[in-house]
Amino acid sequence: MTLRTDYSGALRSSDIGRTVTVCGWVARRREHGEHLAFIDVRDHTGIVQCVVDGAADLRNEYVVKITGTVRARLEGTTNQALATGEVEIGDCAIEILNAAEPPPFPIDDRIDSDESVRLRYRYLDLRRERMQKNMRVRAVINQACRNAMAEQNFVEIETPMLIASTPEGARDFVVPSRLQPGSFYVLPQSPQLFKQLCMVGGLDRYFQVARCLRDEDLRADRQFEFMQLDLEMSFADQQDVLDATARAIAAAVKSVTGEDIAEIPTMPWIEAQERFGSDKPDLRFGMELIELTEVFAGTEFNAFKAPCIKGLRVEGGAEFTRSRLDDLTDMAKRYGAKGLVWMRVTDDGLDSPVAKFLSEDEIVKLRAATEAQPGDLLLLVADERPKVRHVLGLLRVELGRTPVTEGGLHFTWIVDFPLFEGLDDDGRPVAAHHLFTMPNPDDLDKLQSDPLAVRAQSYDLVLNGWELGSGSVRIHRADVQQLVFDAVGIEAEDAQRRFGFLLDAFKYGAPPHAGFAFGLDRLVAILAGEENIREVIAFPKTQSGLDLLTGAPSPIESSQLDELRLRHLPPPS
Ligand code: AMO
Ligand code: AMP
Repeated sequence: MTLRTDYSGALRSSDIGRTVTVCGWVARRREHGEHLAFIDVRDHTGIVQCVVDGAADLRNEYVVKITGTVRARLEGTTNQALATGEVEIGDCAIEILNAAEPPPFPIDDRIDSDESVRLRYRYLDLRRERMQKNMRVRAVINQACRNAMAEQNFVEIETPMLIASTPEGARDFVVPSRLQPGSFYVLPQSPQLFKQLCMVGGLDRYFQVARCLRDEDLRADRQFEFMQLDLEMSFADQQDVLDATARAIAAAVKSVTGEDIAEIPTMPWIEAQERFGSDKPDLRFGMELIELTEVFAGTEFNAFKAPCIKGLRVEGGAEFTRSRLDDLTDMAKRYGAKGLVWMRVTDDGLDSPVAKFLSEDEIVKLRAATEAQPGDLLLLVADERPKVRHVLGLLRVELGRTPVTEGGLHFTWIVDFPLFEGLDDDGRPVAAHHLFTMPNPDDLDKLQSDPLAVRAQSYDLVLNGWELGSGSVRIHRADVQQLVFDAVGIEAEDAQRRFGFLLDAFKYGAPPHAGFAFGLDRLVAILAGEENIREVIAFPKTQSGLDLLTGAPSPIESSQLDELRLRHLPPPS
């Protein structure tokens, strides 16, 4: 039988007169003279005030069981900020279930504690209301996604963690094999190849709440370990995958907000790049990139003699100080621009260091194209087209981005990605997604002659400027796969060594198939109103990849190294 009759945070005026037992942690105690103490007891549902006769030997975070009678608080002492603020528990009998050392930081959402201390004592951090909420939001979303997939007849299948190779392009985490000294497993960057094998295996519709591991630099939206809602469908096309995924996303959103999302709009990749300078546009605000190449087609200004010129109109930005403008210029240069032209729009015309280099005609056309009003700021970059888009896209986000909790949820499918994102140092195309993505059938003949013009049957889901997920129609025929390997310069032998098992499988009747995966941590973070996915992961790593709680990574015993026949080299001098 449980120790309690009620949860602390659930008591209301309707409970007045009941004898109840609550269990939890002492959140706060206040003495009232010698003979009266107010004890706030906290459990995961909230806090209730308990009134105790006589001084009790209690400190913060002691674990207690308190039995008493619910009664109305005295007039003038109710607390509107507290859900239980109309009542208190009186005539309390206290049982101390466990004592506690003073916590290294206050268990209180209103106090910002140092993050390294929070992570070192994560179990205490988890007692805070914010973390309690985040963990539960996460669980609710997981459950909603699972249900949505099951309802659509997807089969939940677990794929292995100790595997041979992953195609996602980040660095692998490797695990040495004891029985095969000198050989290594790698941990999956995604279940990609296994889910495709499931399709060859006739499972038809696969899904998994999959743990993925990638050794890459950590950021607000990246951890070494993260979770994907991963899915794959046979005899299905792009639209089928978008529909199935959208149902899981809609269920997840509804589970948290209670609301239905609108149909998710689709935007071609090239449009996202041209209008927003990004393949993950934040559509919570406008400030689109403005095409100005034509305006300056015949310019005498050297910096503008470039294949592409675009600009941003920052409403009200004429007020920016000179040092802010210098910062933006430095930022543009860090992003790869040769420079940044700024122009303050005033009642008297354009105030800009470069205004004198521009013709009257150019200024008139510029003002018309940007619809600039006095008080606005114009920011212009001239360069190769992809560079211009990239730099202005980042400046746009810098200038327009609002906190995660503002602006609503703006989902978009980005479709028609290019198959390759550019050329490497050897002039070989680099795959934009992974190598198993089906090229657009109309572009197959360009794989060798003009690889950068080949469109892929791949798609991303974007939410408020975050890439939430990616997927594609897969190559299911060995001959097409070979064409792609040839284009990127993977030798047949190399392909056989790395992905031979998949290529072999494709010889035995692979159905056409397509799939998707979205990052659960990212979805949960945005729905929980958090800027960093660390806040929605129970036991995350720090920015530098440390687990401050358990001390990982840490050296292992030399006997363990011997057993694995490993030796470590001294650090490079
Ligand atoms: P992709 O590599 O785009 O696609 O990953 C899919 C989604 O996983 C999330 N994600 C991450 N989340 C947190 N930390 C990370 N380090 C991290 N890396 C990725 C993102 C991302 O959009 N196999 C393909 C999917 C497919 O084609 O079906 C894949 O893994 O939200
Ligand atoms: P410069 O001709 O290099 O002295 O640059 C004159 C101004 O134009 C400076 O404010 C530069 O920051 C800016 N500028 C130079 N190159 C570019 C470019 N490619 N795009 C935008 N602004 C530029």
